[in-house]
Amino acid sequence: MSKQKVFVSRIIAREALDKIAGAAEMEVWQEGLPPPYEILLEKAREADGLLTLLTDRMDANLMSNSPNLKVISNMAVGYDNIQVEEATKHGIVVGYTPGVLTETTADFAFTLLMAAARRVVEADGYTRQGKWKTWEPMVLLGHDINHATLGIIGLGRIGSGLAKRARGFDMKVIYYDSVRQSREEETGLDIEYVPELPALLSRSDFISVHVPLTPETSHLIGADEFAKMKPTAVFINTSRGPVVDQQALYEALKTGEIFAAAIDVTETEPIPPDDPLLTLSNIIIAPHIASASFPTRTKMALMAAENLLSGLRGEPPPNCVNPEALKK
Ligand code: DGY
Repeated sequence: MSKQKVFVSRIIAREALDKIAGAAEMEVWQEGLPPPYEILLEKAREADGLLTLLTDRMDANLMSNSPNLKVISNMAVGYDNIQVEEATKHGIVVGYTPGVLTETTADFAFTLLMAAARRVVEADGYTRQGKWKTWEPMVLLGHDINHATLGIIGLGRIGSGLAKRARGFDMKVIYYDSVRQSREEETGLDIEYVPELPALLSRSDFISVHVPLTPETSHLIGADEFAKMKPTAVFINTSRGPVVDQQALYEALKTGEIFAAAIDVTETEPIPPDDPLLTLSNIIIAPHIASASFPTRTKMALMAAENLLSGLRGEPPPNCVNPEALKK
């Protein structure tokens, strides 16, 4: 019996590729940039399984033209690049990689928070540009992290991870979410629920967003929300770019409505080189690297490989977004 065909849309950890190659006929896209949509269509048409990244659009058109496709395994915890309802209709299971990247991503959110508050990137530039002439009492002042109030929007795995880190800095942590956690969870994390987003925004010194991108969370943070923040506020986004109205973020930073921002995601990725945000010194912009540690990217790749292979066997992937697809 011939092996099932799998297309992997980028080079990922060797261990994961070996696992897949042992069980299926595997083709791996070798280029640094993602396969263009037309290529994805062509590969998906022949494939039983796809291992995708968040840069690969998996839409209704692709699924209707892929008669053998059983599984799409996304190497990410977010899966807004995949039209999951369409996948379910076509009996295609969708895998994702929750859990393995939580701590690494929370580490990075806290890294951004600290770097923006204490102007680390600006300070490095100051040194390199030869501006460091003496010890200066009034230069490159930032805001204290210790004992400040951190407002977390979306208390899932990563938001909770950030709350734990904040405790080590004696921060007061408050959170807003559409679903409130149990009292035990709140007590365990030493956090306070704020039922209205505007109240969280106006109380927080640091605001960090941890929601998935859905129609409801698109532009969740816009001009009205920035207007409610303190002029000393530091805004962090490691979730998805379109959760924030980037034009509004620019205005808020430019006019001093907020003190600084640090983001790992942008509305369009990569951010266009002429984007006005890149002209500001009070923002740090990282190229979507919150989960980018050596061990975590390997764990994500292995989990994605396991999800893929289960889907090929007709079993629900261990981490599956739509197990109901198997009933189709
Ligand atoms: C995800 O997993 O969704 C991140 O954005 C990339 O690690």
